[in-house]
Amino acid sequence: MRLRDKVAIVTGGGNGIGRETVLTFVKEGAKVVIADFDEVAGEKVLNEVRSLGGDAIFLKVNVADQESVTKLVDKTLETYSTVNILVNNAGITADAMTHKMTPEAWQRVIDVNLTGVFYCTQAVIGKMVEQGHGKIVNTSSVSGVYGNVGQANYAATKAGVVGMTKTWAKEYGGKGINVNAVAPGFIETGMVEKVPGKVIEKMIATIPLKRLGNPADIANAYLYLASDESNYVNGTVLHVDGGIMM
Ligand code: CAA
Ligand code: NAI
Repeated sequence: MRLRDKVAIVTGGGNGIGRETVLTFVKEGAKVVIADFDEVAGEKVLNEVRSLGGDAIFLKVNVADQESVTKLVDKTLETYSTVNILVNNAGITADAMTHKMTPEAWQRVIDVNLTGVFYCTQAVIGKMVEQGHGKIVNTSSVSGVYGNVGQANYAATKAGVVGMTKTWAKEYGGKGINVNAVAPGFIETGMVEKVPGKVIEKMIATIPLKRLGNPADIANAYLYLASDESNYVNGTVLHVDGGIMM
């Protein structure tokens, strides 16, 4: 039980990597707040947690809406009295070549992937400082570190997440809070299903492990960074991408 009695908020916990993370954390003894915009998926994951005998709640939240995020953290504290772990996992894509990208597609991705991470962190940081410990795990991407065709908006947010991770690691390290990020490669979820098949084939050919990642590959990285095993790891970006870029 690597997270026994820890309280964790997992944003985007209803689908893909977030769902796998919720189930992994529960199996490791955590009480989990499934924070997602998608009510149907969130309730489904909650039922999966219950069938494992785990402790979780689902809260509908839009991470891009500060009031919604404040309510998420208030309700978490009301239910579990504390918050030990925040996994900033919720994210979206709206891919287009830059000359075709609409201002709306640019802004939508910035609002969720960048501002959403800022709002969620800002909302939990006071409690973590007060209690003298906390773990914040952010989600970057291979696209944020190396760039990717069709993803100027998304890559900007995921590079921004790296900048915020390192800044918060410096701002709050002295208060007992570890802030790190995971940079996944291409992982088999709904997000990657939208990518044209020919692009995916080309992508797999460049991955030394010759396969896409699966959600558990990332959930296990989040688990390490959320657990006490990583107590001396701060401000790092853990690349979990099959070696796609070296
Ligand atoms: N690498 C290299 N070249 C690429 C490419 C890629 N990943 N994706 C597209 N191109 C090239 C195309 O081959 C094409 O080249 P030519 O003009 O020489 O034929 C050119 O870019 C334009 O592509 P399209 O003809 O497909 O143009 P489009 O406007 O119809 O679509 C696109 C553009 C939206 C970028 C589409 O190609 C696409 O969806 N590409 C995949 C984008 C992608 O990789 N998204 C990752 C989503 S998963 C994710 O985001 C998770 C994560 O963190 C990694
Ligand atoms: P997914 O699309 O399967 O799941 C994303 C979840 O986030 C969904 O449940 C969705 O409802 C939720 N969400 C979206 N907008 C939200 C909002 N405004 N408020 C609350 N919840 C919201 O995607 P996936 O693949 O599981 O992605 C998880 C994270 O991993 C994202 O940050 C993504 O950018 C990142 N990532 C994914 C990679 C991949 O290849 N799948 C690669 C690199 C990073």
